[in-house]
Amino acid sequence: MQIIRDRGELDAALEALRADGGAVAMVPTMGALHAGHMALVEEARRRAAHVVVSIFVNPTQFGANEDLSRYPRREGSDAQMLGAADVAILWAPDVDTMYPNGPEASVKAGSAAQGLDGDSRPGHFDGVATVVARLFEQVKPDVAVFGEKDYQQLLVIRQMVAARKLKVEIVGLPTQRDADGLALSSRNIYLTDEERLAARALPRALGEAAQAMIDGGDVAEILARAEERLAAAGFDPIDYAALRDAETFAPMDRLDRPARLLAAAKLGSTRLIDNLPVIPSI
Ligand code: PAF
Repeated sequence: MQIIRDRGELDAALEALRADGGAVAMVPTMGALHAGHMALVEEARRRAAHVVVSIFVNPTQFGANEDLSRYPRREGSDAQMLGAADVAILWAPDVDTMYPNGPEASVKAGSAAQGLDGDSRPGHFDGVATVVARLFEQVKPDVAVFGEKDYQQLLVIRQMVAARKLKVEIVGLPTQRDADGLALSSRNIYLTDEERLAARALPRALGEAAQAMIDGGDVAEILARAEERLAAAGFDPIDYAALRDAETFAPMDRLDRPARLLAAAKLGSTRLIDNLPVIPSI
């Protein structure tokens, strides 16, 4: 695996890679890789002859009071994992290479950025759309794989790709979870042992709420109960528990079409997010 930090070197390496005519799949990441990321890499491997992974902790998607400075960085062990997974290129630019004119979000995220994390983290999705657009411009992948754990982000990226008419297929992969249900996340390492136990309440509250909706319960009441359950487990504040259309991301107050149930809340100093698909029974 080549570890590349320079644009010129990236262009040359990609040209050499594409010489055999095989497709290129990309997995954009911010590093601190775990089994969830490696599942994205495996999926990329299945879909293309060559896999490019990027590691870039993107400053434009972090708010002023967020965890940019303490975000876990461990490129050495990340590179070992990627090398063992047969990744061809690790693209690891620094901030000046990614943002030669200074780190500013220049791409406006579309309608999927409205509400939920778009409200809790103002400007976050503009930063995501900006960096992913740049990564796609640099690598020009045929396909790119993202986790459904960041479901709103996945829809924002799909909209950005459609708006810019980019020729890249966006693949969403179901969330990878620990044995007790907690969604894998680079931020889970912030949790104390006690918080890690309490964190199980998040997937459980979502699972119960999803089932109650499928059973025909009132959506608003179920969402309120899920928030109460999170509060009882020690989450504070609870940013949202919400039901959204799985494709358009429009808010829903009845389960009458395929939906996504999403929640975000803080446990101690760690903000956790999770979501589940909810399909109405026929
Ligand atoms: O999901 C992430 O790790 C990041 O938001 C992404 C897509 C790599 C953009 O920085």
